[in-house]
Amino acid sequence: MEQSFDLIVIGAGPGGYVAAIRAAQLGLKVAVVEKESALGGTCLRIGCIPSKALLEASERYHQAKHGMARFGVKIGAVDLDLPAMMSHKDMVVKANTKGIEGLFKKGKITRFQGHGKLVGNGRVTVTSARTGESSPAPESLKAERILIATGSKTAMVPGIEVDGLAVGTSTEALSYTQPPGHLVVIGAGAIGLELGSVWSRLGSRVTVLEFLDRILPGMDREIAAEAQKILAKQGLEFRLGTRVKSARTIAASAPEQAGVGTQARVETTQARVEIEGGEPIVCDKVLVAIGRAPNTENLGLEIVGIQTDPRGRIPVDSAFATSAPGVYAIGDVIAGPMLAHKAEEEAVACVERWLTGYGHVNYDAIPGVVYTHPEIASVGKTEEELQAASIAYKKGSFPFLANGRARALAETEGRVKILADAATDRILGVHILGPRAGDLIAEAVAAMEFGASSEDLARTCHAHPTLAETLKEAALGVHGRSIHI
Ligand code: NAI
Repeated sequence: MEQSFDLIVIGAGPGGYVAAIRAAQLGLKVAVVEKESALGGTCLRIGCIPSKALLEASERYHQAKHGMARFGVKIGAVDLDLPAMMSHKDMVVKANTKGIEGLFKKGKITRFQGHGKLVGNGRVTVTSARTGESSPAPESLKAERILIATGSKTAMVPGIEVDGLAVGTSTEALSYTQPPGHLVVIGAGAIGLELGSVWSRLGSRVTVLEFLDRILPGMDREIAAEAQKILAKQGLEFRLGTRVKSARTIAASAPEQAGVGTQARVETTQARVEIEGGEPIVCDKVLVAIGRAPNTENLGLEIVGIQTDPRGRIPVDSAFATSAPGVYAIGDVIAGPMLAHKAEEEAVACVERWLTGYGHVNYDAIPGVVYTHPEIASVGKTEEELQAASIAYKKGSFPFLANGRARALAETEGRVKILADAATDRILGVHILGPRAGDLIAEAVAAMEFGASSEDLARTCHAHPTLAETLKEAALGVHGRSIHI
């Protein structure tokens, strides 16, 4: 029998679940179709949340092993209990995914487990995730509005054979049963650097192969270069300008030594010319982190007349409406940065626009954070973007080395950089490499949301001694007025 709702959301990641909750708050009768048994999508189950649990845990291990003596804390033998570290991660994931279940109950949101597919006229069918002879007949749902929030998956390229054995994605790298002797990471983006850091801290040799001549494409080049130096000092080996042309699982040369039956073989070429990149690398694990691709297969897009763009994304207008009446899309399946918080903003804007007439996302003020140690965070324009757009800017920069709190923490690497319009002083971009950069960037985002000038930030009283004083000092630096440098 067909069930009727005001809204059907397909996908329960940060885009979909937030849209469902907000719509329920505004009085809609909401259904959510999700194929996984746990809610929360990639972010909560196999992305942001478990990676942060492992980053935190591995950093503590590393600190206990190498970083406490300077504080006068003597620790005896430090051992890694990887299963315990993994259960910490699993508990964190469970608490988060169960939390969403609770919020769904509170909002009286009806949940359907299975694969949702558009079949036209406001209808969605839900097929059991395990398709087969015995699977129950598909359920049929109907609603005035349908929201696609199906997210993304690891991008694949020919030649790189992901089989989940020695060659895997972040999903496998979040659950290795022992630190790989040698881990090769393909791609120096956020995923590669975060998970590369985790396993490096836990004892693996980590080699990062990157096509471009720099790490973290999209981030400010100067900050990325400084981050690369710090990460290299921590033990990550970078091979830039290197294109991976093949990676595949092979039988381990000495299984009893490797402790596992498989290894991987990686072949590279130089990025710019088809010159062989030297001897193939034989390693224990390969983490493929070369970007993500939208999840749009078997969604019935062709049935309702939606054509994806050349990158597989769903085109939408400023109200997140697709070309099919009553069908909307948000998050990683549409254009823009593939970030959980971007999807959440779009979710709220999309739903509120239906019911209040307002709803807007400021794409110029979406922060990006890479949770390495130290963290790397940015919002707004990079220097390269401003130069490319011929926008005259002034720059203020302040090192954590000159910040009292950072010295007390023994975390003095990195800097804050503020870029302000040369004519109006309006803040155009803020880039931070340093301790808790991911938290510090929030002040910069709020300042930009309010259209602040560097002078506004410079004249705002910051508590002393805090890491946040570096922002004030960098803002003072825009006009050459920093006090502590
Ligand atoms: P990415 O797009 O950030 O970086 C991928 C890197 O792989 C690029 O530098 C690219 O040049 C390189 N690459 C591509 N093909 C290659 C090849 N054949 N050989 C060598 N290098 C190659 O992708 P990533 O790290 O997989 O992240 C995917 C998405 O998830 C991104 O949009 C990212 O922003 C998001 N994400 C964000 C996180 C955060 O905010 N902390 C954490 C994890 C993911």
